[in-house]
Amino acid sequence: MMVESFTLGRFHNHRLDLKRWIPALLSSHKTLFTVLWIVAFGSVFIWQRNIVDGFSFFRRAPARPMPKLRQVAFNLTDFGGVGDGVTLNTKAFERAVFAISKLGKKGGGQLNVPAGYWLTAPFNLTSHMTLFLAEDAVILGLQDEKYWPLMPPLPSYGSGREHPGPRYGSLIHGQNLKDVVITGHNGTINGQGQTWWKKYRQKLLNHTRGPLVQIMWSSDILISNITLRDSPFWTLHPYDCKNVTIRNVTILAPIFEAPNTDGIDPDSCEDMVIEDCYISVGDDGIAIKSGWDQYGIAYGRPSKNILIRNLVVRSMVSAGVSIGSEMSGGISNVTVENLVVWNSRRAVRIKTSPGRGGYVRHIVYRNLTFDNVRVGVVIKTDYNEHPDDGFDRKALPILEDFSFTGIHGQGVRVPVRIHGSADIPVRNITFRDMSVGLTYKKKHIFQCAFVQGRVIGTVFPAPCENLDRYNEQQQLVKRSASQNMTDIDYDF
Ligand SMILES: *[C@@H]1O[C@H](CO)[C@@H](O)[C@H](O)[C@H]1NC(C)=O
Ligand SMILES: *[C@@H]1O[C@H](CO)[C@@H](O)[C@H](O)[C@H]1NC(C)=O
Ligand SMILES: *[C@@H]1O[C@H](CO)[C@@H](O)[C@H](O)[C@H]1NC(C)=O
Ligand SMILES: *[C@@H]1O[C@H](CO)[C@@H](O)[C@H](O)[C@H]1NC(C)=O
Ligand SMILES: *[C@@H]1O[C@H](CO)[C@@H](O)[C@H](O)[C@H]1NC(C)=O
Ligand SMILES: *[C@@H]1O[C@H](CO)[C@@H](O)[C@H](O)[C@H]1NC(C)=O
Ligand SMILES: *[C@@H]1O[C@H](CO)[C@@H](O)[C@H](O)[C@H]1NC(C)=O
Ligand SMILES: *[C@@H]1O[C@H](CO)[C@@H](O)[C@H](O)[C@H]1NC(C)=O
Ligand SMILES: *[C@@H]1O[C@H](CO)[C@@H](O)[C@H](O)[C@H]1NC(C)=O
Ligand SMILES: *[C@@H]1O[C@H](CO)[C@@H](O)[C@H](O)[C@H]1NC(C)=O
Ligand SMILES: *[C@@H]1O[C@H](CO)[C@@H](O)[C@H](O)[C@H]1NC(C)=O
Repeated sequence: MMVESFTLGRFHNHRLDLKRWIPALLSSHKTLFTVLWIVAFGSVFIWQRNIVDGFSFFRRAPARPMPKLRQVAFNLTDFGGVGDGVTLNTKAFERAVFAISKLGKKGGGQLNVPAGYWLTAPFNLTSHMTLFLAEDAVILGLQDEKYWPLMPPLPSYGSGREHPGPRYGSLIHGQNLKDVVITGHNGTINGQGQTWWKKYRQKLLNHTRGPLVQIMWSSDILISNITLRDSPFWTLHPYDCKNVTIRNVTILAPIFEAPNTDGIDPDSCEDMVIEDCYISVGDDGIAIKSGWDQYGIAYGRPSKNILIRNLVVRSMVSAGVSIGSEMSGGISNVTVENLVVWNSRRAVRIKTSPGRGGYVRHIVYRNLTFDNVRVGVVIKTDYNEHPDDGFDRKALPILEDFSFTGIHGQGVRVPVRIHGSADIPVRNITFRDMSVGLTYKKKHIFQCAFVQGRVIGTVFPAPCENLDRYNEQQQLVKRSASQNMTDIDYDF
């Protein structure tokens, strides 16, 4: 305010006698001018600071106490942690995990991460551990790959997914663990993937990028009430694990130019539940896997008994919920229900190729909503990415027993594209209670090739001729005479 009135006064003087008064006024009032400036600037500064203090006062006030979920609870600061976004906390995390590793017989330990930005290189978890992220706690992944340890390729992949040989480990890692909980008041684990994506695109990396969180050969894992964002690679990768629950987790990455930032990739896992999650990422929201070609066949560990429900997913580059393409150990008994896929390229997809071997069977989809997606249901049997040339071209995967009940939505371009082949036909697929609003009312909207199965009751849009027709009472109305007919059009 004072600055303004002074300026106005000077303007007034200008009008009185420009040539004579300006130099005189400026020189004679130079000291006053400076003093006024400091006072004015100072008062504005103090005013601003009060506003900021006021805000932070109101934000800090309700800081929720962290519940005690284990016998013993530590604070990351007990181990020298500094949450300033600059100090490296790797040693603090390691010391905390070491302390908890001594408490296994006493019910384990909890590590509280308070509000702040906790920069760290990769570290390992231990058994009987709860990692609790306070509201506004952010674990930040160090971007310098020199601090990321290299690990041997996953045995069922034989190779890094992007480069042969070793791969980078994950930011938060665990092997051979039991009873691990990662939870909080919606604190965040942020992989700062931007530098990794850029280096990957510029081909500056010599090894496969690391996931954000990877837990291997472990059981009884719970991940809940947190946010995971900007992973360098796949976000959450449970590998050969049993009894894994992922509940009420938000997973975020840019929907473009964040390559391979899959949300959750259950890989050779059994007894898994994924529920109440919001996922918006740069690749598949979920991709269930079980190893790659000859390495996955040899490892022979299926993914099975997986329940996925109450999810909202967005994937502009790939699909909301995928199975494959790495599925060589087999995938069975998967239920996907109450799923909303919006503003996405594909909603649900099963992908495989010759060389994979294995099977995908007993997959149940119920109550799916597609909101503005290009292709709804996709089955693709020529997803030809292989670890090396050693794969067996005669190892043909089996695709069978898929059911889709209750598929609704709007703004869909191609509701169904089932691209079976003579080598990999799709068997025993069922559609029931489907009505999807279309963006284009053309032909080729329910696309099929080499598929055997049925539709029950009314299905909109009109199904392909490959499928048998049943009425609501499940009586055969018309048997298909053209299961192998091909009507696939990728152009739209
Ligand atoms: C952790 O320690 C910091 C610094 O001593 C303190 O501000 C914070 O309240 C502590 N948090 C908990 C949950 O004990
Ligand atoms: C985590 O444990 C694995 C397996 O023991 C090891 O290879 C890796 O180097 C460890 N990572 C870190 C950051 O210590
Ligand atoms: C989900 O997590 C948020 C944030 O942590 C929490 O406020 C909410 O109560 C949780 N919802 C459920 C159903 O657990
Ligand atoms: C958790 O935090 C994320 C990211 O800030 C936010 O998008 C989400 O809505 C939050 N979840 C809840 C339940 O508050
Ligand atoms: C990749 O390898 C090249 C050649 O050995 C080397 O110059 C470069 O520094 C390596 N890059 C990384 C990120 O390790
Ligand atoms: C599965 O893990 C949870 C912890 O996440 C545990 O409470 C439960 O007992 C385990 N279930 C079985 C069958 O082991
Ligand atoms: C998630 O947070 C809510 C609200 O704090 C809590 O009631 C619930 O038990 C938490 N769920 C899990 C699985 O940690
Ligand atoms: C299939 O998976 C569900 C969990 O989603 C499990 O309850 C059920 O027992 C499994 N069925 C078989 C036959 O294993
Ligand atoms: C179907 O899914 C939607 C969205 O997830 C949900 O709101 C609705 O309650 C579900 N319907 C049934 C019958 O479960
Ligand atoms: C077809 O799949 C359904 C599950 O969708 C299953 O109940 C049925 O037994 C299968 N039929 C045959 C002939 O395998
Ligand atoms: C359709 O293709 C399947 C799988 O390739 C084959 O077994 C079957 O004989 C074919 N049926 C007809 C009528 O050609």
